[in-house]
Amino acid sequence: MKLHLLSAVIAASSFVGTSSAISILMGNDDGFGSAQIREFYRLLKASGHQVLIVAPADNESGQGGRSVFTNNKTLAVNSEYNLVPAGAPSLGRDPIDPDIWYYNGTPAACTYVALDHVIPLYYGNRSIDLYVGGPNFGTNLGNFLYTLAGTMGGTYAAIGRNVPGVAFSGGNSEQRSYTWINKTTASGLPDPATIQAQLATTLVNQLVNATQPHKRIMPLGYGLNVNTPFITSLTNDSCVNPPFIQTRMGGGGTTDLAVYNATTGLFHYENLITDGNNICINGNCALPGETPIVDNGCFASVSVFTIDYDAPLGPAQHGIRTALQPLVAYENPAAKMMLKERKRLRDILSVRPEYEVNE
Ligand SMILES: *[C@@H]1O[C@H](CO)[C@@H](O)[C@H](O)[C@H]1NC(C)=O
Ligand SMILES: *[C@@H]1O[C@H](CO)[C@@H](O)[C@H](O)[C@H]1NC(C)=O
Ligand SMILES: *[C@@H]1O[C@H](CO)[C@@H](O)[C@H](O)[C@H]1NC(C)=O
Ligand SMILES: *[C@@H]1O[C@H](CO)[C@@H](O)[C@H](O)[C@H]1NC(C)=O
Ligand SMILES: *[C@@H]1O[C@H](CO)[C@@H](O)[C@H](O)[C@H]1NC(C)=O
Ligand SMILES: *[C@@H]1O[C@H](CO)[C@@H](O)[C@H](O)[C@H]1NC(C)=O
Ligand SMILES: *[C@@H]1O[C@H](CO)[C@@H](O)[C@H](O)[C@H]1NC(C)=O
Repeated sequence: MKLHLLSAVIAASSFVGTSSAISILMGNDDGFGSAQIREFYRLLKASGHQVLIVAPADNESGQGGRSVFTNNKTLAVNSEYNLVPAGAPSLGRDPIDPDIWYYNGTPAACTYVALDHVIPLYYGNRSIDLYVGGPNFGTNLGNFLYTLAGTMGGTYAAIGRNVPGVAFSGGNSEQRSYTWINKTTASGLPDPATIQAQLATTLVNQLVNATQPHKRIMPLGYGLNVNTPFITSLTNDSCVNPPFIQTRMGGGGTTDLAVYNATTGLFHYENLITDGNNICINGNCALPGETPIVDNGCFASVSVFTIDYDAPLGPAQHGIRTALQPLVAYENPAAKMMLKERKRLRDILSVRPEYEVNE
């Protein structure tokens, strides 16, 4: 076990000074001062990659894909862990490391601010090969968490902007600052935050290693959701080196049940497993669901997703579309006329190739 971990750490440094190093944008929802993103940043840099963080000024957990930009030019309160004081600009650099930026917005907003402002203005418009989110404090498992988790939101925001993305989340859910990383632990192994970051770095380096130089790390629209279990190194070595397993997002995943308390008049949520939240429509239905893999053992799950939400072709889609007719036509007549007109124009103009019809 320990040997494997060690070899992963060694492998993690093998891109230094090679052409395989890539350009990475990092984000999260726990905030720019979190232990896990800082350890991940440190190890990706140690691997030789060019790395930049643009992450929320504060905890933005549970924001999903919301894109919220602040209306205040300055921070109304101190950033998380008091790293930056109230009154500082709403977008700025970490006081110690200039390649770590905070922005007072949601994870998705941070992705856009990075791509549209920080990188063009301060990094010579450097092109980004990969976005990585997290590792989040706490797992993000299943279809329900996909839209709820800020770690996912920052990631699919990047994918929507043509940047391949990987969301990392880990079972250690205690949110803490990068100034609290235990150098030594009861198990003699690194802090859980460090091990979570090593696992994430190993996965990134595997992807990079499998990609030809100057080729996309994943095709347009694709991303990965990676979840790692609770790492026990603070107390023992029973789960310090989980193997990665190919999974799918659905399967054994939970959604919310609203539970009413008549005494307080309030609701809280409990976990509910339903068929609707776990049905396999897309993807490889033979793969295990990521939720039971990570929740029931010392395993890490790797699910491949796309941000194309359209239903696949087949009798189900056909049946639904048929039920909508004639109210919902396949093509609205105006659009159809426009297409005809375009074709007519193209036919005319085809004898005069210097003209182009823009579609
Ligand atoms: C990349 O792949 C080569 C060949 O399979 C292997 O020797 C090397 O250790 C890998 N490097 C990383 C960082 O995974
Ligand atoms: C971060 O925000 C989430 C969602 O609002 C909350 O559950 C969590 O306790 C917060 N964490 C901290 C450290 O404030
Ligand atoms: C904006 O931030 C300043 C401190 O920088 C604070 O005094 C002010 O109340 C904030 N405004 C709003 C609308 O939050
Ligand atoms: C930055 O690069 C993108 C594409 O790589 C390009 O569309 C954009 O115009 C560039 N912006 C600046 C400020 O150079
Ligand atoms: C880890 O470090 C923190 C802060 O330095 C300390 O309070 C805590 O007791 C340490 N925990 C372990 C298990 O070593
Ligand atoms: C190892 O530590 C974890 C908590 O980190 C605990 O739940 C588990 O029981 C411990 N296992 C052993 C074998 O002591
Ligand atoms: C409802 O809330 C009250 C007050 O917090 C608590 O004492 C009680 O246990 C709750 N009831 C249930 C069924 O959870």
